[in-house]
Amino acid sequence: MDEDTSKPRILVGVSGGIAAYKACELVRELKRAGCAVRVVMTEGAQAFVTPLTFQALSGEPVRTGLLDAEAESGMDHIALARWADQVVVAPATADLMARMAHGQADDLLTTLLLATEAPVALAPAMNHRMWAHPATQANHALLHERGVRFLGPDAGDQACGEQGPGRMWEPATIAHALLHPAPGPLAGRRVLITAGPTHEPIDPVRFLGNRSSGRMGLALAAAARDAGAEVTLVHGPIALAPPAGVDRIAVDTAAAMHTAVLEQLPEVDVFIAAAAVADYRPGESHTEKLKKSYDTLTLPLERTTDILADVAARTDQQTPRPFLVGFAAETGNLREYARGKLEAKGLDLIAANDVSAGQAIGTPDNALLCLWNDGERELARQPKDTLARALIELIAERLPAREPNPSRKE
Ligand code: CTP
Repeated sequence: MDEDTSKPRILVGVSGGIAAYKACELVRELKRAGCAVRVVMTEGAQAFVTPLTFQALSGEPVRTGLLDAEAESGMDHIALARWADQVVVAPATADLMARMAHGQADDLLTTLLLATEAPVALAPAMNHRMWAHPATQANHALLHERGVRFLGPDAGDQACGEQGPGRMWEPATIAHALLHPAPGPLAGRRVLITAGPTHEPIDPVRFLGNRSSGRMGLALAAAARDAGAEVTLVHGPIALAPPAGVDRIAVDTAAAMHTAVLEQLPEVDVFIAAAAVADYRPGESHTEKLKKSYDTLTLPLERTTDILADVAARTDQQTPRPFLVGFAAETGNLREYARGKLEAKGLDLIAANDVSAGQAIGTPDNALLCLWNDGERELARQPKDTLARALIELIAERLPAREPNPSRKE
């Protein structure tokens, strides 16, 4: 069947397990559906199936090595990583998952998995004890957190004669999941999120900042992506890696964050302000390093623009207006101050957190009190990634049902 350009271009990675033979059927299914398919095999995979089999099924040369000068002179590994609209590894062995979790690039497949920006799905296949091993489970959790989609495994009879979870999904089920992903509650929505601190320069080497790690904003970006949204993350200086599959704009100051947000705004359905934006910046930023010539030094500070309040004010005229979500960081009177901010800034929802005694900011877990005009919901203390998913679910629930923002440019 001819390639249908409306169908995704799929890179199928095959790693070394007995289920590699089922990957042949997967390639056939994807080709039958009109997809262009290219296959990359690990060395282990070639012990089970020959590259020639996949070449015949995909109608394309099969790549096996990273250092193959001849193959690299055609479509090199970076071009191959860019070519794919989707990447699926089937079967994904415990070893492949471990190498991927550690960011190794010791063969062509793991290198491609690092280089691609396309969504990645894994169809694990292994002995059930290997699947249940804490090391594999930790790799599973880590990869999932980074946005890798897991297709399976199934429980049932295994090639080794044992029973349990670890069996690869049937090829038709994998193909169906790749071609018909279930729409999440934010499918078709565009979500803009601010995250992290801002740094306001005092001189070329010093700045005013805060303890925000950006963890909550990053977790929200991953959760919104998993809920099917197209996500843009505008983040300040952070040490954590932003999630894959999310557009990101790195900024340093409150002013730069403001500009980036305004540029994105016309296309946005939901705006979540999770950044700990500096409220004040030095009145002047010195171009030369300040010398310690005085016993005391006073820095005049000026207010920065409140990005969220500004967005709320601008979008009053926009129809439909994005759904506006703010955070309130408080050290006391949580409900009262947060409700005040909800009303003063004209928000649809506010997530209040207690930042007293070193809580919330820069920590791995948090609790939130979410308020809207006629209701509230408490989200119990938990790791920020699950908390973020709960908040995204609440936002999806509260979001008025409507067509995605019509002012969006496709
Ligand atoms: N915010 C913003 N731009 C700013 C300051 C805050 O977008 N310059 C957003 C934050 O991202 C958060 C919300 O406003 O979503 C509230 O931030 P918070 O620091 O709790 O409150 P403030 O409005 O700054 O008020 P105050 O510091 O007086 O408590």
